[in-house]
Amino acid sequence: MARITVEDLKARKVAKGATPIVSLTAYTQPMAKFLDPHCDFLLVGDSLAMVIYGLETTRGVTIEIMCAHGRAVTRGAKQSLVVVDLPQGTYEDSTKQAVASAQRVIEETEAQAVKLEGGVEMADTVAAIVASGVPVLGHIGLLPQKAEHRGAFKIQGRGDEGARKVMADAKAIDEAGAFAMVVEGTVEPVARDLTEQVSIPTIGIGASPACDGQILVSDDMLGMFADFTPKFVKKYAQVGGDIERAVQAYAQDVRSGAFPSLEHCYGVEKK
Ligand code: KIV
Repeated sequence: MARITVEDLKARKVAKGATPIVSLTAYTQPMAKFLDPHCDFLLVGDSLAMVIYGLETTRGVTIEIMCAHGRAVTRGAKQSLVVVDLPQGTYEDSTKQAVASAQRVIEETEAQAVKLEGGVEMADTVAAIVASGVPVLGHIGLLPQKAEHRGAFKIQGRGDEGARKVMADAKAIDEAGAFAMVVEGTVEPVARDLTEQVSIPTIGIGASPACDGQILVSDDMLGMFADFTPKFVKKYAQVGGDIERAVQAYAQDVRSGAFPSLEHCYGVEKK
């Protein structure tokens, strides 16, 4: 099956009656294989800082870590487009730094695109990366990389000024040449307005069904991350509970001598 391209995703904005774009985060090869047949794109998000590495926020994850996970995901994804996050501290200083980081990520991971956070202030950076030949997924609204602690994750777009800011960010990222943009933690009327006004698909996370597509952190929707669950997450499974039950049963079997049984042993004569 041919891989979904940036152009395919852009076309979903203008296609009348297009079905919403489906995306989830992925961080490992086995998980990418599970998600790949069902998603249009997979995001190797820097949310891995929190859900894999146990950090308080998405800050503090390195480009080396993102590249290692990015390569694992591209090994598992055959049809979904793969996007890798540029981590905080690798693109904000200059457009030269941003282009070098984006090119390194693409070379080392074989992903199709990068994502970076920011609106008006990042428009020149997005344009420079796109001009260098690397497709960019924008990210506006709530920007986790700006939050120094979890309590600083605040819904965006409230009030006239808040709405104007998110709208200006959306337009700037559209004009800068991104192929789509994540809209995170933004009130519904603003998400709806900006989705109508930009030319590229909007991918909502806590930004209402008005967006052209949706993304969730896989660990959240699978019930694998118990530390905290935002209001916008729908849990489709309780994998954490399944893991606990399985480990409890295994521990009990080992302690009671029920595991391993002869069927799990080598060199045992069959009777
Ligand atoms: O890092 C991430 O997982 C993200 C999503 C929340 C969009 O940026």
